[in-house]
Amino acid sequence: MITTATPALSLRDIVVTYPDGESRVAALDGVSLDVNPGELTAVIGESGSGKSTLLSVAAGLIEPDSGSVEMHGTRGLIFQQANLIASLTAREQLLIIDHMEGRKPRQDRADELLSFVGLESFGNRRMGQLSGGQRQRVNIARALMGQPSVLLADEPTSALDSKLSRDIAKLLRGVTEDFGTATLFITHDRSLLDYADRVLEVKDGYVSAYSDVAA
Ligand SMILES: Nc1ncnc2c1ncn2[C@@H]1O[C@H](COP(=O)(O)OP(=O)(O)OP(=O)(O)O)[C@@H](O)[C@H]1O
Ligand SMILES: [Mg+2]
Repeated sequence: MITTATPALSLRDIVVTYPDGESRVAALDGVSLDVNPGELTAVIGESGSGKSTLLSVAAGLIEPDSGSVEMHGTRGLIFQQANLIASLTAREQLLIIDHMEGRKPRQDRADELLSFVGLESFGNRRMGQLSGGQRQRVNIARALMGQPSVLLADEPTSALDSKLSRDIAKLLRGVTEDFGTATLFITHDRSLLDYADRVLEVKDGYVSAYSDVAA
């Protein structure tokens, strides 16, 4: 029997324009895409092509001029710079999510997630006592605290060297498989595309399947 997964995230005919002097210019000009549970979709494209705009629409951070965003479940967001609070420990970074949502702190879940990202012995470290790669791991663990069905990552490796970038891409692959998230992973690093189930390219406001064949 052929079964079709219901996408966790669907974007349909998304148009986003920004002011440009007297007129407006389209950053996205009719973009549609679906991301299924357990699928890691990488998005590449030149600087200024609209990748972050696409992710911000998916994240609900910007309202498109037209088009629709359909989400099943909750979203977890991962940005380039881990927006972590310097005075908190790694474990507290995760528990603050429960605090903000008025939930009882789930110590066990926080420790499980820290362990999943390879930081089991770093829970008591403050952010200044962690490397950039470790901070990005905390960031990923924190995004998982809310049990997201959709994980949106905007260039999470761009501040890391190539070895650490591969480690983080591999971790996103593992998260996608083990937690079944529909993951959108923006990167400009072509060496990381192997970790993705499929690759989309944003160009001139449009999204298409990426082909690796040099033009
Ligand atoms: N708030 C804004 N106001 C006006 N123009 C904007 C705004 N945000 C983005 N843009 C423009 O929209 C286009 C797409 O920007 P976006 O940030 O989505 O690109 P990107 O692909 O993420 O680039 P990068 O790889 O450099 O992060 C760019 O031309 C940018 O200058
Ligand atoms: Mg960007």
